[in-house]
Amino acid sequence: REFAGKTAFVTGGASGIGFALGRAFAGAGMKVMLADIETHALSAAVKSLDNVGPGVNGVVCDVGDPASVERAAKAACDTFGNVHVVCNNAGVAAAGGIDNISLDNWRWVLDVNLFGVLYGIRTFLPHIRGHGEGGHFVNTASMAGMNGGLGFSPYVASKFAVVGMSEGLAMQLKPHGIGVTVLCPGYVRTRIGESGRNRPERYGATQPPDPASPAGRLLAEIAARLAAGLDPSEVAARVLAAIRGDELYVFTHPEMREDVEERFAAIMAAMDKPAGL
Ligand code: NAI
Repeated sequence: REFAGKTAFVTGGASGIGFALGRAFAGAGMKVMLADIETHALSAAVKSLDNVGPGVNGVVCDVGDPASVERAAKAACDTFGNVHVVCNNAGVAAAGGIDNISLDNWRWVLDVNLFGVLYGIRTFLPHIRGHGEGGHFVNTASMAGMNGGLGFSPYVASKFAVVGMSEGLAMQLKPHGIGVTVLCPGYVRTRIGESGRNRPERYGATQPPDPASPAGRLLAEIAARLAAGLDPSEVAARVLAAIRGDELYVFTHPEMREDVEERFAAIMAAMDKPAGL
């Protein structure tokens, strides 16, 4: 697939993986619309890409609100014309665990990480099918969508769902010449650990777990792993290669394959159990 002259739309584009994707697309000659809920970070991100590529712009957007996603898509088309690559990448993390099951946390994380992806697909699919110039969806899941090792968590639930919906979407879009990639990174050095900064008021206040509780200890371990994680630009480079090669899965941490193997081994062993008691 040829990038130059085409247009990309990236949610969560003000920071981390989304920003790196935007920069990589611009560097490859694409026009780029960054969509994000964090206004100041978005302006700074757009400004920093001023001299990269044929045009980078930003639009404030809450991916948890379908009308906001539609407005952002219209802004992208009004500014740049047809959109070809859509990265449904915005995502947030909040504490899970069994000690304090917060419906606000579950609703927020699923609205952004799952429904946000759905709204992006629902909004852009008719547009891409309509213009007929080809297109590609990149949905950001996670290794947390491959193995439930983080425990009882809205984040894990959302990422498993994004993997499943992306597989189904790829199957159905193949005959239409529209590609789908599901991005499953391990730890990447971004601000995902500070997701609470962008939590809309409708989900109530952030409820950090007691640092001494199991959920609090897990959070500290995750923060350390994120700080030592992969550079987002490496993730972006893999995604561009996957779009070019029309690859469904992108994994960035081959050292985490054991986690996936363990899960499938347990599933296979359960399948091989004889029927009956
Ligand atoms: P980040 O926090 O640096 O960037 C996320 C961006 O999404 C931020 O700019 C934030 O303002 C934006 N955002 C949050 N809520 C939003 C909303 N309602 N509407 C629009 N934008 C919103 O974090 P990162 O890591 O770059 O996250 C990007 C994606 O990568 C997420 O889906 C995350 O779950 C996923 N991911 C991250 C990993 C990591 O280790 N950093 C590993 C695996 C997946």
